[in-house]
Amino acid sequence: MKFVRFIMKNSALASAPKHIEHFAKFSPSPLSMKQFIDFGDCHFTHMCYLVYRYSLPFVVVNFEGIPCTPFHSVLRYVQSLMEILEFLEKSPDDHSVLGEFVETLVNIRNRHNDVVPTMAQGVIEYKEAFSQDPLTNQNIQYFLDRFYMSRISIRMLINQHTLVFDGATNPIHPNTIGSIDQHCQVTEVVKEAYESAKMLCDQYYLSSPALVLQELNTNNKNQPISIVYVPSHLYHMLFELFKNAMRATIENYNEGSSLPPIEVMVALGGEDLSIKMTDRGGGVPFRKIENLFSYLYSTAPIPQPDQQHRAPLAGFGYGLPISRLYARYFQGDLQLYSMEGYGTDAVIHLKALSTDSVERLPVYNKTALRNYKVSQGADDWCVPSREPLDLAVFRLAK
Ligand SMILES: Nc1ncnc2c1ncn2[C@@H]1O[C@H](COP(=O)(O)OP(=O)(O)O)[C@@H](O)[C@H]1O
Ligand SMILES: [Mg+2]
Repeated sequence: MKFVRFIMKNSALASAPKHIEHFAKFSPSPLSMKQFIDFGDCHFTHMCYLVYRYSLPFVVVNFEGIPCTPFHSVLRYVQSLMEILEFLEKSPDDHSVLGEFVETLVNIRNRHNDVVPTMAQGVIEYKEAFSQDPLTNQNIQYFLDRFYMSRISIRMLINQHTLVFDGATNPIHPNTIGSIDQHCQVTEVVKEAYESAKMLCDQYYLSSPALVLQELNTNNKNQPISIVYVPSHLYHMLFELFKNAMRATIENYNEGSSLPPIEVMVALGGEDLSIKMTDRGGGVPFRKIENLFSYLYSTAPIPQPDQQHRAPLAGFGYGLPISRLYARYFQGDLQLYSMEGYGTDAVIHLKALSTDSVERLPVYNKTALRNYKVSQGADDWCVPSREPLDLAVFRLAK
């Protein structure tokens, strides 16, 4: 933080620390899916809300100890904060201000498009430069989970504002309000995500497993399952899960045998919409399951910039942790159940009712601060000895 202050004092961003401290006093108020939909009414309320909400991630992040590369990202965030705060002083009655606001939002969104790979690069540099200790790993995980959750929510708000107020309706999806589809057909999104992952998989491995898709709508047996949701979020999660399932299936595949399909089951109940993806990719040991959600973990080689600009199939280790954040953002979750030697079930749980889908946002308070400082004390469960006990020693001591 001292370093950030030093740079800002010597730049056009001199007043930023004052603003950051001011906004640090507020907590964001989460919106429900229904509120997002109703928000369409007042441009100005929405604009003010966005200004405040945009400012709040600054209270969520603790910039201390972040390696060099992401500093550029942090400074670019401060620049965006200052640009958006300018609107607090402008009159909303002036129609051109509202248009200018949308333009600023679009610039801000584009400016931060590459934050995930930039931060990933920073984590790689950090891993190479410093030895890893459990407290630092825990802090990086805690920080990035909260940072990316803020990013998801800010981008959601920016997308809503820019899409709702540019006035055009989406001709292909007339049920869409901003980025929310009021009749999001879940199996259609599953098929789209499968096709995109299949295309990548065919490029890399020259073959891909088939898809077996089933759905069970307990509310209305003859109707396809649909929920009020953000299709792009659902697509993101499913695309990541398909890439993982395909890679595991192909790497576990024995020449001569046929590729086992990936099975997807979609079930809608009264409370939950669940999507289970089953692969026969050989699974992961139980001990490692939580590691898979770590930003510091991947078993794939680090992706190198590709001259053909192809997207990598795997590599940064961000697929699962970010997908879990998308699921948690509207009170859902993503879990993995694996049987080593056989395969993996990945399950996405979402809320079936839009009234239950409320944003889950990080707040910065004393508890959050304490989380960075808690060092791991002595374990209050005994640790099994690595070596088998030599009973002869005990017999001698008697
Ligand atoms: N279905 C699966 N079967 C076996 N291993 C898996 C599966 N899904 C994820 N993994 C393991 O979890 C790791 C992390 O996955 P992910 O977060 O998507 O990052 P990446 O795919 O970039 O490595 C993978 O490298 C892989 O080792
Ligand atoms: Mg992956």
